[in-house]
Amino acid sequence: MAKPDVQICEVGPRDGLQNAQHLMPTAAKKAWISALAAAGLTEIEVGSFVPARLIPAMADTGEIVAHGRSIPGLTVVALAPNVKGFQRALEAGAHKVTFPVSASRAHSQSNVRMSPEEMIAQVKQCIALRETLPADRRPQIEGAVATAFGCTLQGSVPEDDVVQFATMLAEAGCDAVALADTVGYANPAQVKRVFRRVRESIGGKLEGAHFHNTRGLGLANALAAYEEGVRNFDSSMGGLGGCPFAPGASGNVITEDLVFMFEAMGITTGIDLEKLFKAREVLVHAIPEEPVYGHTPVAGLPKGFRQAA
Ligand code: COA
Ligand code: ZN
Repeated sequence: MAKPDVQICEVGPRDGLQNAQHLMPTAAKKAWISALAAAGLTEIEVGSFVPARLIPAMADTGEIVAHGRSIPGLTVVALAPNVKGFQRALEAGAHKVTFPVSASRAHSQSNVRMSPEEMIAQVKQCIALRETLPADRRPQIEGAVATAFGCTLQGSVPEDDVVQFATMLAEAGCDAVALADTVGYANPAQVKRVFRRVRESIGGKLEGAHFHNTRGLGLANALAAYEEGVRNFDSSMGGLGGCPFAPGASGNVITEDLVFMFEAMGITTGIDLEKLFKAREVLVHAIPEEPVYGHTPVAGLPKGFRQAA
């Protein structure tokens, strides 16, 4: 199958469920991930390796990674906040591990109880640890610069800091660097400016864009990033999501609407919208009390709509 024009990573099982009010049972998580993969998602962030006492919803991530690995062609992503989390990700066999490095010092302390520099030192240790493994057991490592567009704890986050931490992550040996709007403060002009500045510093290592829809600008920001050359996007089914350690954080850009936007523009995603709506039914059935969002699944596809060829 031809590579799609944009690569969408579904982060609902991690970013979504870590902030949900209702626990999704392990069997339901597996069914949801299978349904997402059946809809054409080839990259899913299935969970995080954090202490279960901090985020009980992530207690079964090892088992969920194993399930993800059983789905042919799926890149199984997991988040780790330190070396211990990385070791657990290695044991489980995650294909890709994402490390959150907050550009906001206040959020960094709240989230991982480390400064951004200490967090980057953890990432470096993990990269060194990876070098000791056989080639077929080395996961991809992504550094995600969190609160890159502002922070509810600290307020504004200097763009120079974002560029600096992204550059440190690239120089540390991360395969990819992403910019995340953890609390939904970003606007499209800022997105273009910050992505451009970071790209000027680290070039092609800048890959992903992770937006939250807290102020309704998720799609606008995704489009701005696309126009700035970004081709890798995180999003969450039903608009679930948010960081429990960032006050006021709410859901990610909504996968269903993001896929619809790109497909309607003639930009291929590799994702079948009808099958995506089926995966949404699996989600809603699993945690029926949890509020879900999204315009396209409620309104339906336009009459005669054809996905991008
Ligand atoms: N997975 C499981 N257990 C872990 C762990 C991990 N990744 N990291 C540390 N622990 C355990 C330690 O072994 C230790 O256990 P013990 O008390 O039985 O000896 C205990 O947790 C405390 O370890 P410490 O290194 O002091 O961690 P901490 O309490 O300072 O917490 C983090 C630091 C990074 C582990 C924690 O802040 C964290 O997980 N943050 C991520 C939060 C998150 O997921 N945010 C949303 C996504 S961005
Ligand atoms: Zn997020």
